[in-house]
Amino acid sequence: MKINGVQYRSVQVDPDDNWTILIFDQTRLPFSLNVLRLTGCVQVAHAITSMQVRGAPLIGAVAAYGLALALRVDAGDDAMERDAATLAATRPTAINLRWAIDRMLAKLRPLKPEDRVAAAYAEAALICDEDVAQNEAIGRHGFSLIRDIAKTNDKNRRINILTHCNAGWIATVDWGTALAPIYMAHDAGYDVHVWVDETRPRNQGAALTAWELGSHGVPHTVITDNAGGHLMQHGMVDLVIVGTDRVAAQGDVANKIGTYLKALAAQDNKVPFWVALPSTTIDWTVMDGIREIPIEERAASEVTGVTGQTKDGRIETVRITPHDSAAANPAFDVTPARLVTGLITERGRCAASAAGLHSLFPERQSQ
Ligand code: MRU
Repeated sequence: MKINGVQYRSVQVDPDDNWTILIFDQTRLPFSLNVLRLTGCVQVAHAITSMQVRGAPLIGAVAAYGLALALRVDAGDDAMERDAATLAATRPTAINLRWAIDRMLAKLRPLKPEDRVAAAYAEAALICDEDVAQNEAIGRHGFSLIRDIAKTNDKNRRINILTHCNAGWIATVDWGTALAPIYMAHDAGYDVHVWVDETRPRNQGAALTAWELGSHGVPHTVITDNAGGHLMQHGMVDLVIVGTDRVAAQGDVANKIGTYLKALAAQDNKVPFWVALPSTTIDWTVMDGIREIPIEERAASEVTGVTGQTKDGRIETVRITPHDSAAANPAFDVTPARLVTGLITERGRCAASAAGLHSLFPERQSQ
């Protein structure tokens, strides 16, 4: 994505030092765009757990490079399996992470240790390039959906799209999933406006989605997480598009906590609720998303505090709850397939169901 005329990807190899991986520290956004240099597996694992990088496709891509960095230290079988397991365990819900590590291991296991480092960098680069191509295709298929909705709108009325969390270019290698169609519609001259859920507790909407959309010139308004239902009741939302961390084989969708409530409100108000995803987010082994998808439980401190920037530029967390109140922090929820209008993938749009997914991915029919 271009910012001030400069083209960026959310993860890239340092052009001046091929062994170093560059990411943006997302814990500093929207206040500053700080580049972090990753040179080892432990540093990569920390970047993922601390959410310096986050977003399902991006953590998969960064973990793939993490394994390449680990192999530079020790490319033997035992070390490779140990480091792969460390990276795969950093976050439990997004399947892209385990998918990327499994794909790396499938490529690397048959190779001699001395051949593994170069092969790992090449495979990680391929994962990144494929992610960009898939998200661009999702953008095209989602844009055609926005065009269809625009046709049914009164002439000259803006198209109001609500999104939750951040599923933009900063959550992927480039383009994003839920935001890719919005960028394309905006670039094509459509009058799109985005309602951005703040997305407590970490505020990925208020901090990251708002920053992304603003940098691209897309009109948007940040709202509290509780405002969406009200806006839908008053006809102020034409479409909801969200990303996802894992889609079950029959269409249940795990995404940032609060997504389920938006889907309920959307159904009650007959607002289309679409989910954008690359096929790397489908877990073909999971049938019942609610029972089988592991939900990450994060630190209570994310709930008891709010992080922001002070007037003198420091990033600080202030406490908002009584010191003796307990807090729980499930980071994701699962929206049942019956509440999802449809899925937008790199191969096109389909129903959120086993039949819908198989129509786009017939090679998975036997699974
Ligand atoms: O906890 P996060 O910030 O990693 O959660 C991210 C989301 O929930 C996104 O919606 C999802 O990963 C899709 S990103 C294209």
